[in-house]
Amino acid sequence: MQICLNLAVLSNIFSPICVPLNLESCCTAFQSTTLRDKVLYPDTVAYHASVESYYFADARLEPSCIVQPETAKDVALAVSTLTTPDRRERCQFAIRSGGHTSWPGAANIEKGVTIDLTRMNSTTFHQENYTVSILPGARWGSVYKTLHPLGVLVTGGRASSVGVGGITLGGGNSFFASRYGFVCDSVLNFEAGDPLGHVVLANGEIINANNQTNPDLFRALKGGSNNFGIVTKFDYAAFESIGLWGGVIAHDKSTTAQQAPALVNFTNHVEKDPYASLITSWHYSSARGVTMVSNILDHAKPIEDASIFDQVLAIPRVSSSLRLTNLHDLTDELELARGLGTRFLTLTFKNDPRMIQKAVDLHDRSIELAKAKTRTKEWTFTSFFQPLPKLFSQHSVTRGGNMLGLDRFDENLLLFLIVLSWGGLEDDALFDSLGKTAIQQLDTYAREIGADNEFIYLNYADPSQNPLRSYGEENLAEIRRVAEKYDPEHVFQEQVPGGFKVSKA
Ligand SMILES: Cc1cc2nc3c(=O)[nH]c(=O)nc-3n(C[C@H](O)[C@H](O)[C@H](O)COP(=O)(O)OP(=O)(O)OC[C@H]3O[C@@H](n4cnc5c(N)ncnc54)[C@H](O)[C@@H]3O)c2cc1C
Ligand SMILES: *[C@@H]1O[C@H](CO)[C@@H](O)[C@H](O)[C@H]1NC(C)=O
Ligand SMILES: *[C@@H]1O[C@H](CO)[C@@H](O)[C@H](O)[C@H]1NC(C)=O
Ligand SMILES: *[C@@H]1O[C@H](CO)[C@@H](O)[C@H](O)[C@H]1NC(C)=O
Ligand SMILES: *[C@@H]1O[C@H](CO)[C@@H](O)[C@H](O)[C@H]1NC(C)=O
Repeated sequence: MQICLNLAVLSNIFSPICVPLNLESCCTAFQSTTLRDKVLYPDTVAYHASVESYYFADARLEPSCIVQPETAKDVALAVSTLTTPDRRERCQFAIRSGGHTSWPGAANIEKGVTIDLTRMNSTTFHQENYTVSILPGARWGSVYKTLHPLGVLVTGGRASSVGVGGITLGGGNSFFASRYGFVCDSVLNFEAGDPLGHVVLANGEIINANNQTNPDLFRALKGGSNNFGIVTKFDYAAFESIGLWGGVIAHDKSTTAQQAPALVNFTNHVEKDPYASLITSWHYSSARGVTMVSNILDHAKPIEDASIFDQVLAIPRVSSSLRLTNLHDLTDELELARGLGTRFLTLTFKNDPRMIQKAVDLHDRSIELAKAKTRTKEWTFTSFFQPLPKLFSQHSVTRGGNMLGLDRFDENLLLFLIVLSWGGLEDDALFDSLGKTAIQQLDTYAREIGADNEFIYLNYADPSQNPLRSYGEENLAEIRRVAEKYDPEHVFQEQVPGGFKVSKA
C-alpha cells in the first residue's frame, strides 16, 4: 500500500511523493510537530549531503528520512515522536554524530529514521569553571580551532573530521591520554546545567548525568556507547594549550627491526614524559606497491626532539613533517584513506616486541594474498600500533572510572588496529576474510606466547567482535543494569538496532 503526500512546503517539490505507507508514516509523524522543517527526504540536495557526509562509503545507507535536530528539545521531541505506542514496533531509528564508524548501520539505517546530530556542533569555553561544552555533532577539528585562540584544549580525536559523540561514548584515545586518561574520562557532565538538561532517554525526557546526579548513568556512558539514550551535550575539563611539536615521520620497511623495540620502550617509559604520544603503523598502498612505516609523534609542549623520542628519532627516515604547530594543524594532517569498501578490526595484547613482529609478518602475508587475488586496483592495508600503558587506566580510576575495564590489567598493553580499504565491491569477501584471518592468527599467537589480552576497543571494532563483553563481566552487568534502569522499555536495544548493543553482547 502506498501513501502520496504533497511535500511542497518542505522540499520545493511540487509533485506529490508516493511511498509505502509503513515507511512514510514514521517520517510523516514529524509533520505535525515543530520538527517538520528539520526533516530531510530522499531526492533532495540536503538529504544527499547528509548521506554523503558519512566518512566511509559502506556507511552511506539511505534512510526513509533524516531528522536534523538543533537543540536537545528537538532531540527529545524526535525520540518521543518515534516512540509512541503505535510506532514502537514499526519505527526504527539510528543516532549519528560524526558518522565515522566504518561499518554500515552503526550510525545509519535503511527503512528507518536517522537522527543526525550534525547541526548541533557548537563549542563553548567557560572561563569561570574552566570547562568546555561541546555538542555531539561537532568535529574535533572545529573544536580545536575554536579553543586554540582561547589558549585551551580538551582531550579528543586525532583526525579533524572525526565526530565528538561517537569517540567519547566509546572511550576515546587521544594525544593526551598519558596525562588525562581516555576522552570519556575528561567528561564532567553529560549536561551543561542549562534548563534543557542533556541526556535524552527513550521516553523523551531530558536528564543530566554527572558525578552527583545520576552517577551510574554518568559512568556507564563512558564506554557504554548508545545503549542508554542520546547525549546532546558534553562538558569537558579544559587544560591549557601551550602549543605542540609533532608530525609524521616516514621510514623504509627495512627499519622494522628497530621500530618494534622503540615503540615497546616508549610505551614502558611514557610516564616519564606524559606530554608525549606515539603511533606506529605499517602502511601498504597498491598505488606505491610497497609498505612504508610511519611514526606519528606528538609532544604537547612546544619543545623539539624531547628525549623520550630519542630511539624513534634515531631510526633512518625517508621524510618528516615534524614541526612546532597547533593541534588542529596536526589533526588536519592525520585523516585516513577511504575506498568504496572499508574494514576496521582490532586486538589488544601485551607490550611485547614479538607481537609487533608477528603482526608485521601477517601484514606482509595478507598483502601477498591480496595481490594474488584482488580484482580492484586501488587498495590499502594498514596495521597501527598504539601504546596502552597502565598509566591511562590509572587516570581513568582517578577521574571517577569508566566502563572499559582496563584497570583490571596490571601490565602495559598495545592497541592494534587493522584498517583495510579497497575500491570495488567485488573484493568485499576477500578483504573481509584477510582482515579476520590476520586478527585471528595474531590472537592465536598471542595466546601461545602468553601475550594475549581480552580487551576489544569499541571504536575500532568490527561487528563480528564483541567489545562490550571484553569490558569484563562486572562492567557488562553494570551496563545491562543501567540500560534497564534508564530505558526499561528497551527502546535503545530494539528500536535503535545500530552499534554495539548490550542485549547482544
Ligand atoms: C579518520 C578517523 C580518525 C579516528 N581517530 C580516532 C582517535 O584519534 N581516537 C579514537 O579513539 N578513535 C578514533 N577513530 C575511531 C572513532 O572513535 C569512531 O569512528 C567513532 O565512532 C567516531 O565517532 P563519530 O561521532 O564520528 O561516529 P558515529 O559513527 O556518528 O557514531 C558512533 C556510534 O556512537 C553512537 N552515537 C554517536 N553519537 C551519539 C550520541 N550523541 N548519543 C548516543 N549515541 C551516539 C552512534 O549511534 C554509533 O553507534 C577514528 C576514526 C576515523 C575514521
Ligand atoms: C556546524 O554545521 C554547519 C552546517 O551543518 C556548518 O555550516 C558550520 O560551519 C558548522 N560549525 C562548526 C563550528 O563546525
Ligand atoms: C561551567 O559554567 C557554565 C557557565 O556558567 C555552566 O553552564 C556549566 O554547567 C558549568 N560546568 C560545570 C561542569 O560545572
Ligand atoms: C565530582 O566532580 C567534581 C569536579 O567536577 C570533583 O571536584 C568532585 O570531587 C567529584 N566528586 C566525586 C564524589 O567524585
Ligand atoms: C628506553 O627509553 C628510556 C627512556 O626514554 C631510555 O632512557 C632508554 O635509553 C631507552 N632504551 C633504549 C634501548 O634505547
